Amino acid sequence: MASKSSSSSHLSKQKAFLILSLFSIGLLLSLLSMKPKRVSNVTNKFEVDKRKPSWFEVIEKNYASKRINVGLVNVDTRVDGGLYEQLHALHPQVEIVSVDFDHVDESLKWKDFFPVWIDEDKKWGGPKCPDLPMPTWEEYRDLNVVVATVPCGKRDVFKLQVNLVVANLAVDSGWVNNLDAYEPVYVVFIGSCDPMMDIFKCDDLLLHQPGEYWVYKPDLFSLRNKMLMPVGSCQIAPGYAETGKEEIRRGYMSQSPATLNYNYTISKLAYVTVLHSSEAYVCGAIALAQSILQHNNNNNNNNNNNYTKLDLLLLADESIGYKSIRGLKAAGWKIKRIKRILNPYAQKGSYNEWNYSRLRIWQLTMYDKIIFLDADLLVLKSIDGLFAYPQLSASPNDFSLFKSGLMVIEPSTCMFEDLMKKSLEVKSYNGGDQGLVNEVFTWWHRLPTKVNYLKSFEEREGNDVKEEIPEDLYVMHYLGLKPWMCYRDYDCNWDMNELHVFASDLAHHMWWQVYDAMPKELKSYCGLTEKMDERIVQRRRRARSANLSDGHWKIEVKDPRRTHYEDLNYSRE
Ligand SMILES: *[C@@H]1O[C@H](CO)[C@@H](O)[C@H](O)[C@H]1NC(C)=O
Ligand SMILES: *[C@@H]1O[C@H](CO)[C@@H](O)[C@H](O)[C@H]1NC(C)=O
Ligand SMILES: *[C@@H]1O[C@H](CO)[C@@H](O)[C@H](O)[C@H]1NC(C)=O
Ligand SMILES: *[C@@H]1O[C@H](CO)[C@@H](O)[C@H](O)[C@H]1NC(C)=O
Repeated sequence: MASKSSSSSHLSKQKAFLILSLFSIGLLLSLLSMKPKRVSNVTNKFEVDKRKPSWFEVIEKNYASKRINVGLVNVDTRVDGGLYEQLHALHPQVEIVSVDFDHVDESLKWKDFFPVWIDEDKKWGGPKCPDLPMPTWEEYRDLNVVVATVPCGKRDVFKLQVNLVVANLAVDSGWVNNLDAYEPVYVVFIGSCDPMMDIFKCDDLLLHQPGEYWVYKPDLFSLRNKMLMPVGSCQIAPGYAETGKEEIRRGYMSQSPATLNYNYTISKLAYVTVLHSSEAYVCGAIALAQSILQHNNNNNNNNNNNYTKLDLLLLADESIGYKSIRGLKAAGWKIKRIKRILNPYAQKGSYNEWNYSRLRIWQLTMYDKIIFLDADLLVLKSIDGLFAYPQLSASPNDFSLFKSGLMVIEPSTCMFEDLMKKSLEVKSYNGGDQGLVNEVFTWWHRLPTKVNYLKSFEEREGNDVKEEIPEDLYVMHYLGLKPWMCYRDYDCNWDMNELHVFASDLAHHMWWQVYDAMPKELKSYCGLTEKMDERIVQRRRRARSANLSDGHWKIEVKDPRRTHYEDLNYSRE
């Protein structure tokens, strides 16, 4: 204790002496007292109040003799008096300012900021977010440290507000003088409730004393990029296929913020998909790679040659055999072998038993950013622009959740470890990875629906084949029976009543167009096996005897794949 007080060059000798003597008297009293509990209360208070917080010593080192401006966010001096007095005692080395902002309206709930539906097409004036009051930034532009307490809980609107205030303060103070480089700003969360790790990345965590504090030194390039996003998924994340993207890119391009062109050579980026447990989706992954490449080749971008910097990487477990790997490579994928990951809560042998395997995308730290795609997606238009978005950006699903079939993520070893830890604690709502990542990333950025469009037509009445597939789709997600598991003549989801919601001949046709453009060698991976053919014939027979009114079972089949079966190792559909 004595060495701690005297080590500070900023406390006057007098003050240090006073503290020392008071402390000794307290100690003496506590030793002599007949009621040690009560006196130790007083002693303790003194000790806690005047001692330099241990997190402060980490930060102080970086400021030599400079004055340190500390902003307090949601620190109630009546409740957290100890902290306030600790910092106050460090004057004049430390200057404190309490950051003032209005508490968000208590009646607002998480779903108001993360609604299922928004007016994406701007038919009713465009989507709006509820008001989330923020401080007047101009008053707090020279902070070196932001200290905050956050409420506990998940999907708590006030917690979000505090985290966003802190993040914006850090960004604002860090960037105040220079657009090319920032001054570091430290962020400290006091207490036992954790900050939002989707805003404050574990990679930026300097120090964590469980139950007491977290100290972050945020990468402000990345944080600034996130602060350009709307407060919730109540609005589409701006900048994609819209004006204004320059600002987002500037925020993202850490090494050359002034350049407005997106420069792939600066960041290491990749499209990634994962195949595990069976070879049923090998053809899907081949078509996916081809669709990505076909659309990149067609794009009239001056930096055309740059797209080769974008890797296509496929993670495959041991169930993907050598022959399939050859085809996947020929289609454009680089291959990385992985061990699949068990979902501890899934039933043995169930369809989602190994669905946590795709969490391995967070281990790919050789990349700065990844667009993850399910193997049953097809890219219809270049989505390279999505690399401008921060983690985690995705299209909306039910409730306040996003769809995990297409996600923009930022690999990180500590994040992967956190996800693994959570996978043991959290029982995902749907048993799959989508439930888990939604528990971890509650503050996500909304991409337009057309970026991950589900081939699903729940509102369609009966067999009304007027298919409402919007034009200008970017990505189609083939739900239900996959196109390569049907005849090319029509979407075989029509052959089963319960799959009619997924049936679309138009979407089916779009997939076969990509197939048609593939080299012959690759087409062989999308052939029919005798077994697949038998299954289709059976379903058609049942559709005929049920006299299904859509009548697809009447269509004369011309699919040339029937004339020669492939010897593919498809263990299941
Ligand atoms: C002193 O400590 C007791 C328990 O140890 C606690 O209940 C009480 O609130 C404390 N008093 C003050 C003034 O901190
Ligand atoms: C992209 O960045 C690289 C490396 O910094 C640089 O050499 C190249 O000129 C840049 N290209 C464009 C189009 O800005
Ligand atoms: C789990 O993975 C299987 C493929 O292995 C996929 O068909 C299924 O949709 C996944 N389920 C979820 C909930 O992610
Ligand atoms: C099959 O359905 C059509 C109408 O969709 C009807 O005209 C026809 O009689 C039905 N056939 C049988 C055998 O039930």
